[in-house]
Order: sequence, then C-alpha cells, then structure tokens
Amino acid sequence: MVVEVEGLWKTFGDVSAVEDLSFSIERGQVYGLLGPNGAGKTTTLRVLMGLERPSRGSTRLFGSTVTPSCSELLHVGAMVEQAAFVPHLSGMRNLRLWWEAGGAHMRDADLDGALAIAGLGDAVHRTVKTYSQGMKQRLGFARLLLGRPELLVLDEPTNGLDPGEIREIRELIGRLTSHGATVLLSSHHLSEVEQTCSHVLVMNHGRLITSGTVSELIGATKSIYVEVDANERQRALQLLSTLPQVTAVQTQGDGLVMEMCDGRRSDVSAALIAAGVHLQTIMPTQGLEDAFLDLLAAGDADDAQRQHQGSAVSS
Ligand SMILES: Nc1ncnc2c1ncn2[C@@H]1O[C@H](COP(=O)(O)OP(=O)(O)OP(=O)(O)O)[C@@H](O)[C@H]1O
Ligand SMILES: [Mg+2]
Repeated sequence: MVVEVEGLWKTFGDVSAVEDLSFSIERGQVYGLLGPNGAGKTTTLRVLMGLERPSRGSTRLFGSTVTPSCSELLHVGAMVEQAAFVPHLSGMRNLRLWWEAGGAHMRDADLDGALAIAGLGDAVHRTVKTYSQGMKQRLGFARLLLGRPELLVLDEPTNGLDPGEIREIRELIGRLTSHGATVLLSSHHLSEVEQTCSHVLVMNHGRLITSGTVSELIGATKSIYVEVDANERQRALQLLSTLPQVTAVQTQGDGLVMEMCDGRRSDVSAALIAAGVHLQTIMPTQGLEDAFLDLLAAGDADDAQRQHQGSAVSS
C-alpha cells in the first residue's frame, strides 16, 4: 500500500479540520480528493507530508508511519505549498539550484524525464519572471519529478490557471499517470477529477462522505439517457417501459430518459439490441458534478436529521 490513513483527526484549537478519516491508495491508483472550501483537503495532505502532526490516528507512506523527516518522504513529490522560484534565473538554473541545494549531484536527477513530462520546451532557458502562471506550475512539476518520485501529492494543481493552462496541466498529469505514477490530488474542478482520476474521495466538514471509482460514483445515478435511430424511438419507448428495472421512461429531445431501480445500463442496452433496435448512445444523465453535489446535500440532510434527533432526545 502506498498511502494508508487510519482514523485521522486533526484539530487546530477548537477547530476540527479532519475527523476520523480513513482511506488507502495502492500503487498506480490516481485519487482525486474533492470537497468544498474548508472540507479538510489541504490539512489531510499536509499531515500526510509530515507538515502537521495528527491529533489522533495514523498516516503511513509505503508501510511506514509518517514523521517530519522520515526517509519515505524522499520518494514523494509534493506540491502542497506555492512553488517559489528565483525570478531572475532561468527555469533550468532554478531546477539545478534547488536540486543541488539538497546536497545531490545533478547527474543523479532525472532531468530529461522531468522536462519531457513538464513540456516547457525551450522556455526552460528563459528567466522565470517571464513565465505565465501555467509555466511556473509546469516548472514546479519538473522540480518535483527530478527525484523520480513514486507518489505525487498535489494540492489543487490547477488553482489560479486559465482554461488553456488547466488543460495543459491535465495533459501533463495524464502523461504522468500513463507512466504508472501513483497520485493523490485535491481539486475543486470536478470535471478535472472526472477526466484525470481513477478514484475519488469526497470530504465535507472534515469527514469522508464517500469514496470509490469515478464510474462507481457516477454510476450511482439511476437516471439514464438513450438515443436510438429516430424511426425506432417509439418502439424503444414501448420496449423500455416493459422492462422490470425501468420505473419511468419519457422522450427528451432526440432521445429517451428513463429512471431505473438499479441503474444497470447493460440491461437496457442488451434489451434494445436483442430487439434489433439500433442503439446510438447510452449514458448516465448526470456527471460527477451532479453526483458530488447530491452527495453533499444528502450528507447535510443526514447531519440535520441527527441534530434534530439529538435535540428531540435531550428535550
Ligand atoms: N493552521 C490552521 N489553524 C487553524 N485552523 C486551520 C488551520 N489550517 C486549517 N484550518 C481550518 O481547518 C479547516 C479545514 O481547512 P483546509 O485548509 O484543510 O480545507 P480545504 O478543504 O483545503 O479548503 P480549500 O478548498 O478552501 O483549500 C478550515 O476550517 C480551516 O479554517
Ligand atoms: Mg485547501
């Protein structure tokens, strides 16, 4: 196991930032940590990097308990604070300075690999003060890749970037993960997590609300959209309304929308194909963003109910 967090609590005075958080990450998994402002994402990542002590519970990296200067941290490339560079030096000079400041020889750094993934091109020879926000972020990636990290921990890697830069960073993370990197990244951009990550952790008020694969989270939705050849739509509508799993079906635009009791799309496509209907499209009606907002709303409703029950008992 690359990351193991067990029963983690972190309080700052009387502020409870993380409450009873547990999750684990295996080699090669790409985890997105989602949650609204103040959910406890940064605190979780900081504890994992040994920058904060847990109030209770444990965090392990590669099987060893995290301490501020443990050797396992050498195998982690982390971006949990703003990357700082010397502005009047080139990107390349900054990379060398930073690496050599750690007492290591440049020949031991994976400079070619880091630059290939960061994709800065010739700009790496320009002074950093001429860089855009996105270029600085890519230089930050190059820096943390010099040491061939086995795990990347990234706190909102696209924060403050424009849409073009966000796409470039997403592509960069794609290059990393296609090389088998293990990643834990936090984000507010739900669509980014949907496109970049294999797994999702959703936090709110310091607690884990749900975790699973991206498709599990989206698949939890029970509303499905189907498009078939136009002249077969009525036949498909009739057929779908007879399926036992379908509780309601109606036309919408060029397609059909149905509610299902179990959300298994494969049953729907199998039934349509068996009946000789030409299926064009079948997909959940909601993306991760809707699933995420539904989860947060459901969690808040549960909290309100618990409080209500608590006050009913105490009164
Ligand atoms: N050093 C600290 N001292 C006091 N409170 C803190 C400290 N760090 C975090 N907190 C509090 O802990 C809670 C969780 O903060 P955290 O920064 O982990 O959330 P986040 O999910 O990263 O939010 P954001 O999306 O805004 O970055 C917040 O209520 C925050 O105010
Ligand atoms: Mg944060």
